[in-house]
This record gives sequence, structure tokens and C-alpha cells, in this order.
Amino acid sequence: MASDPSAAPDPLTVGRYTASSVLVSAVDLQARVRALGEEITADYVGREPLLVGVLKGAFMFMSDLARAIDLPVEFDFMAVSSYGHSTRSSGVVRIVKDLDLDLAGRDVILVEDIIDSGLTLNYLRRNLLARNPASLEVCALLVRENHKVDDSILRYEGYRVPSDFLVGYGLDVDEKFRNLPDVRIVKVASDEEPDGSEGEVESAA
Ligand code: IMP
Ligand code: MG
Repeated sequence: MASDPSAAPDPLTVGRYTASSVLVSAVDLQARVRALGEEITADYVGREPLLVGVLKGAFMFMSDLARAIDLPVEFDFMAVSSYGHSTRSSGVVRIVKDLDLDLAGRDVILVEDIIDSGLTLNYLRRNLLARNPASLEVCALLVRENHKVDDSILRYEGYRVPSDFLVGYGLDVDEKFRNLPDVRIVKVASDEEPDGSEGEVESAA
């Protein structure tokens, strides 16, 4: 059946959101993630790191990162939601799904999609350190230029990014665009916040 391409819906516009501007291409992402995997492989020779992914945003990054690490690794996941505006974290974090594995004595690498203010990361680090891992490092795909955490705790990072709201490669706005293979800047067709919410809400990471 012949189809008119001009009639096809634009997959990069969903509701009020448009994600047409690519910040990091899929090819660049894959190369950077491979390099991070090689760095981790070299740093953890002889050890079996436990990758702890923060759902949902980190799932795609963690999946590619794990395949780029040439060591025996184990996975675990936690899900958190933060109180506050859904596009701005308050630092008050609730664990929605906790880890299955015991961290005691493990070499843990916390895998995050994006460090924005860093409040979620600060909370998670404190929480995980209290479980007595042998070591705890952070691997974040994206880190805001103006984050507010101590740089020394960001052991592995993919890219420094500006303050635009980003989607793709696991990151969402209102659960949309997580499946894009690249990272894009999302625009909203109004002057509201990207999630359109007002006041206090609880949002998934
Ligand atoms: P923080 O506590 O301010 O560092 O916020 C971190 C969390 O907010 C991330 O794990 C993401 O879930 C979410 N987040 C922050 N910025 C963005 C963005 O640009 N796009 C999608 N999610 C974001
Ligand atoms: Mg998120």
C-alpha cells in the first residue's frame, strides 16, 4: 500500500513536547559508553563490580555500559521518586524499589542517567554507603555543568551538559521519549514547565 510520508505522524512530537534537537548523537553515545566501559574494565581488573542502576532513566545506559565492561559483573536496580516539582528535584527521595542484593563487601558502581542538582545522588550515596560496600563509585552518563555535588565523587562521567531539559536514551519527560537512541533537547509548546504540572508532585527518576 502506498503511503504518503507527509501524512505520517512525527514521532518526535508527542502532545506538547517536541524533541527535534539532537544534543548527543547515537554514534557518539555508543563510542563514549564503550570508552567508559573500557575505563571501568581497566580500573576493576580482578574484581567483580556490582552495577546498581537507578530506574527508570539509567536502564538503557546501564545495558550498553554492562556490555562494554569485560569483567564478570552483577546487576541490581533501585527505583526512587523525588518529592517536589517533577522536573526539579527537592532532595527528598523515597525508595520505591529497593535493591535485592547485599552490598556488604561489594565493589559497587552506581549508574545514573543524569546528575542535575545532585540532590538525588547525595541521598543515594549516603544510603548505599550505610550498607558497607567495599567501594562505591558513581558512573553518570550526563552531568549538568552547574551541578552542586563535589566533583571528586563523580568518578565516571559521559558528558557535561547545559541546563536544557533532555530526553532520549532512557531519559523522559512525562514518560515519553525514553526509547530514542540519542539525547535530545525537548521543547514544550507553551511556557509551562516541561511536565506541565503545578505545585508539589512525586515523580519517578
Ligand atoms: P537531581 O537530584 O537534581 O540531580 O535530579 C536527578 C534526576 O532528575 C535524574 O536522575 C533524572 O531522573 C531527573 N532529571 C534531571 N534532569 C533531567 C532531564 O534533563 N531530563 C530527564 N530527567 C532529568
Ligand atoms: Mg527521569
